[in-house]
Amino acid sequence: MTDEEATVAVQTAIESGYRHIDCAWIYQNENGVGQGITNSIKNKTVKRDDLWITSKLWNDRHRGEHVEDALKESLKSLNLSHLDLFLIHWPIVQTFGVARPDSGTDYIALDQVPISETWQAMEDCVAKGLCKNIGVSNFSVKKIDNLLTTAKIKPIVNQVESHPFLPQAALKTKCDANEILLTAYSPLGSGDRPEHLKQTAEPSLLQNETIQSIAMSHESSTAQVILAWAMERGTIPIPKSANAERQKQNLNSMNLQLTADQVQTINELDTQHRYVDGKFWEVEKSPYTVANIWDE
Ligand code: A2P
Repeated sequence: MTDEEATVAVQTAIESGYRHIDCAWIYQNENGVGQGITNSIKNKTVKRDDLWITSKLWNDRHRGEHVEDALKESLKSLNLSHLDLFLIHWPIVQTFGVARPDSGTDYIALDQVPISETWQAMEDCVAKGLCKNIGVSNFSVKKIDNLLTTAKIKPIVNQVESHPFLPQAALKTKCDANEILLTAYSPLGSGDRPEHLKQTAEPSLLQNETIQSIAMSHESSTAQVILAWAMERGTIPIPKSANAERQKQNLNSMNLQLTADQVQTINELDTQHRYVDGKFWEVEKSPYTVANIWDE
């Protein structure tokens, strides 16, 4: 979303009852999000303390010395004194100042700037009151295990792609065992990703016939069924919508109660399909591959 779209979308979302807003530096619209938050607080739709604002550290700011400034930059754009949650966006490091590398040589291997260094700086941000909680995104079971060996503050969230085609069962089990919440991005299949990030002939989640028939039995939408399923299994779906009506529809999924049979039927749709497959990180001379990002 552009800044202008984000301002409107944040305001309509908060008016509808949303309290959790998921942002990131790389979305390049935190000014717009911040304006939406500020307007909603000023017009007394919501109090700051009732909101949960998440943002994410971009890959070029992983070195310990850059983390606090990166967080402060997001805070300034969002017009906030603190975040509720700050995440490491990807287990990937890029040259400082290179947000979108043209060349593989601008990727730096994790053994040179280890996650433990980034995490320590994130912990310092908690101590300074700049964020209340810290977490990670796009972390595999193996990377969670590694992080837990050095973390003084445990991550409270791992935000990963998750939906009926990719339930992330093993990762969910690992997170549950360590009291880490699993936030589900692209819960609806992220149909509006830029074309160059899409694969050919992607399966459609919103048009899946099994989900459609469950939706019909509840007189609800497929999106609502998918979101109800995600919440039923204890994940936190973060559907993106720029449209006030679809925002309301998605929020109303909280009132939809699926039967145990329906939950099981949706569980069986698991095909391990990733929409955000990570292939865009596989660049010549980059140390990152799909295999070493997902550890699969
Ligand atoms: P829009 O922003 O126009 O509502 P994801 O959350 O998986 O990233 O998916 C986002 C995509 O799904 C966007 O294209 C968004 O479009 C669309 N979308 C969001 N909510 C719904 C809904 N209830 N029904 C259909 N499409 C939806």
